[in-house]
Amino acid sequence: MSAEQDPVKLMKQQVGQAAADLVKSGSIVGLGTGSTTAYAIEYLGKRLQSGDLKDIKGIPTSFQASVLAKEYGIPLTTLDEVDRIDIAIDGADEVDPQKNLIKGGGAAHTREKIVDALAEQFVVVVDGSKLVDRLGSTFLLPVEVLPMAMTPVMRAIEKLGGKPQLRMGVKKAGPVVTDEGNLVIDVKFDSIDNPGELEKTLNNIPGVLENGLFVGVADVVLIGEIQDGKPIVRQM
Ligand code: 5RP
Repeated sequence: MSAEQDPVKLMKQQVGQAAADLVKSGSIVGLGTGSTTAYAIEYLGKRLQSGDLKDIKGIPTSFQASVLAKEYGIPLTTLDEVDRIDIAIDGADEVDPQKNLIKGGGAAHTREKIVDALAEQFVVVVDGSKLVDRLGSTFLLPVEVLPMAMTPVMRAIEKLGGKPQLRMGVKKAGPVVTDEGNLVIDVKFDSIDNPGELEKTLNNIPGVLENGLFVGVADVVLIGEIQDGKPIVRQM
C-alpha cells in the first residue's frame, strides 16, 4: 500500500514535511531516527534539490539517519565540527501532556538524546496514536546497556519494580545490537509516576548507557491526524 492510500503513512508523511518546513537555510540539523523522521529527511533533501533551502548540515542520530541523509543529498557533519545544533527533528514512541517522551523504538535513543538535547529547538514528529496520558502505558521503556552488565542491570531494574526483557532481533538470531554495539533491555513499569526521577535513577545503574525517557527536552510536538478523511498537522 502506498503512502497515498495508507492513512498512517500519510499522517507520518505530512507531519515529517511540516517539521522539515521549519528548517532555515544555514542551519545545523539533528536528523532523528524512525519511519516518521525518514519523511522529514526525504523532504529536506527535496527542499535542497529545489533550491528552496541552502547550506544545511545534518547530524545523524543513527546509521539509518546517515544512510537516508546520503540518499537524499544532505551533507553531514559531527559534533566535533560544530558549536551548535539549530534544530533537531525526531520521532517518539509515546508523548505525555507535558511533552515528555519515551523513545528508543529504533534502539537509537542514546545518540538521539545527545543530539536532541543539544538542539536549540527540538521538534518531535508523531501521529496521534503516540499521545498518552501517562508514559509507559502503551510502550515498554528501552534501556541501552553494555553487554557485560546485562544481568546485573536486569536485577537492579527488577529491584526498582520493573519487568525487564532483552530486545531480540527480527530476521536475525539473538539480541538487537545497537549502533554502538550494546544491548537494549525493554522494561515494563506498572506506573511511571515521576519520569524525571526514573530517568536519573536508571542512568545511575552501573552499565546503563542511557534510557528512553526524554524529560523536558521537547520544544515543539507536531501531531499528524486524520480529520474528516484528510490528514492534518496540529501542534501540541
Ligand atoms: C528510535 C526512536 C523513534 O523516533 C521512535 O521509535 C518513533 O519511530 P516511528 O516514527 O517509526 O514511529 O525513538 O529510537
